[in-house]
Order: sequence, then structure tokens, then C-alpha cells
Amino acid sequence: MRAQVGIVRAGPAGLMLSHLLHLAGISSIIVEDRSRAYCEARVRAGLMEHWVAQMLIATGVGERLKREAMVHDGIHIAFGGEARPIDFNRLIGKHVYIYDQKEVVTDLIARRLADGGEIFFDAEGTSVHDFDGASPKIRFRHQGHAQEIECDFIGGCDGFHGICRPSIPAGVLNGYDRIYPFGWLGILSESPPPDKELIYCFHERGFALFSMRAPMVSRLYLQCAPDEDAEKWSDAQIWDELETRLGGVRPLKRGTILQKGVTPMRSHVIEPMQHGRLFLAGDAAHIVPPTGAKGMNLAMADVRVLSRALEAHYKSGREDFLTGYSGTCLSRVWKGQRFSWWMTQMLHRHSSEMDFDTKRQIAEIDYVTGSEAAMTSLAENYAGLPMD
Ligand code: DHB
Repeated sequence: MRAQVGIVRAGPAGLMLSHLLHLAGISSIIVEDRSRAYCEARVRAGLMEHWVAQMLIATGVGERLKREAMVHDGIHIAFGGEARPIDFNRLIGKHVYIYDQKEVVTDLIARRLADGGEIFFDAEGTSVHDFDGASPKIRFRHQGHAQEIECDFIGGCDGFHGICRPSIPAGVLNGYDRIYPFGWLGILSESPPPDKELIYCFHERGFALFSMRAPMVSRLYLQCAPDEDAEKWSDAQIWDELETRLGGVRPLKRGTILQKGVTPMRSHVIEPMQHGRLFLAGDAAHIVPPTGAKGMNLAMADVRVLSRALEAHYKSGREDFLTGYSGTCLSRVWKGQRFSWWMTQMLHRHSSEMDFDTKRQIAEIDYVTGSEAAMTSLAENYAGLPMD
């Protein structure tokens, strides 16, 4: 098989890259080791920056998003028995959208297939080759047959545990890491969210987040130990803890818990994000802790930059955008890292003592929810830094 660009994995990054390339007249094939049903069902963070929603709409994959996404003007930060609003719409004229990553994946798969795109689901033993030369290859097994895609470039969109990054020779990449001493217990429940917008809670028993997926579906998170066993939490314990940490700022309606699981928290960046003709995008190159939900948004920014660079290569023979890919992406990635780290350190409980850092955190939250300048800075980062 032959395509101009071979793409590893059908997550939001790989699918959006393939879609943008198609619109630019560039062919691609996606290889995915999971089934289509798995890709379309996995619940992940559900918060989309303003420009990402605009890009989905502008490129023709935003129809369902326009109908079903919940459009939010801002967020609340709760502490000391009070929920303080930060109104992005008033501060910077932008919104954020609640639309689960799995819905983005579902819409993009449908669109790629309708446009004649090729996606090999259930691929086995995928590997990437010869990307330091002019003719890279992706090899895999599909329905018992060995397959090879010959391409000009490879998009490594295969996440943190993918095969693309480790295929780059030792000594080329530098990694930067931060592991946090806590995790999130994530819950999906059939219950109305306590507010029409998100509430981030700083509480002496730990952080809690009240998000949602639909008017009667809540997505809730509790700070927990990084190795917490989700099964040890009974439904009643979960609701009691959520109610305590919400601190009485809103009434909380309980409902059936549909899913629970623990998310680890880490920050990770590798530099550069490219080697030869292999370009890494999204989680394959960087991981953020979930606070602020930057993961998918940063992945979308990477593939926007990459699709434009490939378009410049094919249409006008310009190589500078491709050589500059990593530098362009990393300046945004590090700002996303800074913001995610900052939200995480500000809102999580690091100690049960009322010590210096706890006092400092309270002062920071008080400042961030009271100062017009600080609220504007939070709003600008949360709703998404300018893209173009
Ligand atoms: C969600 C997740 C986040 O990490 C966040 O900051 C906001 C929302 C979510 O899954 O809804």
C-alpha cells in the first residue's frame, strides 16, 4: 500500500490529522490496534477549547457538536463554603465546550470513512521503519496477513504507551517529567450536575471536580492516592465524599454510578517532537495532568501545525514549516504544561496541615477568583491560547 502520510492510531490526533490532510488533498492511511467499538466508547476528558470547537465546525465535523455539546461561559472555583465564578465570556468573549473525546473520535471516524478514508482497525504488531530516509514504512498484521504502508511521512499519534516514540534512536530525545503524589478517582453517574457549569473544589479533604456530559449525566472526580483501588470505594462512600468536598456551595443530587476508575497524574514532554520523517503528535510527545483538560486540545494544536506544514511541503515545496514543527508545537505545549501544573498545584491538597503552602494556596485561589487581571489570565489559558 502507498499513502503520502501513514498515521499510527485512530485517536483524536490521528483522525484529525487524516481529516485535515484529506481537505488539503493529501492522502493518508491510519493503522489502529484497537477495534472501532473500543475507540468510540472510551470515556476521556470532555472539555474543548474555543478554537478547537471552531476548527471542528469550520472543517465540517461539527454538526453533532453544534447540537449536543454543552456550551459554557466559564467555571466556578469553590473554597471556604463559597463558589466563585470566573466568567470567560465576559472577560475574554470566549466559551468552552463540553463534548467527550469519544464523541470527537466517533464523529471523525464516520467522516473519514464517508470521505473514502482508510482505517485499519484491530491491527497487530504495528511497527515503523526507515523514517530517517526518504521512504518510511509502517508494518502490521491485519486479519492474519502481513501488511506494509509505504509513505513519505509518518504521523506518530499513538499516545504515551505507543510504539513511535520508542522507535526513535536512543540519545535523540530529551524527556522532562513530573509525577504528582496523587491521582483522580473518576466517576460517571446518572445524575444532574450541581451547576450548569463546572465547579473545581479546594477542600481540606482534597480536590474535587464536578463536571458533566449531559443534563442528566455527571462526570465527577476526587483527589485520591495514585495507586487507589477504585473498587474499594462503595457508591455511598463516593457520594458522601463528593458532598463533603462540595462544601455546601450547591445541593448535590445522587444517582446511579455507571463507571469508576483511577487516573494517574503526570507531566511529561519529549523534545524534539520529530526525527527524520517521523512526527509525534499529542500524547506520544507530551502528557499533562488532567486539571484543566488540556490533553486533547494540545493534540489538536499539534496536528493543525503538522497538517499545515505538510501542505506547505506538497503545495509549495517549503520545508521550513516541517523543520520548525517541533519548535512551533513546543512553545504551546510548554504553556499548556505550565497551566496544567499551575491548576494542579493550586487546587490539590498537598498536606493535611494548615502549613505555609496551604496558606499560600488559599491566598492564590482568593487572588485568582478576585482579581480581574488574574481571572483574565486563567480564562485566556483555560479557553485556549490563540492558535493562528
Ligand atoms: C473534565 C476533565 C477535566 O480534567 C477538567 O479539568 C474539566 C473537565 C471532564 O472530563 O469533564
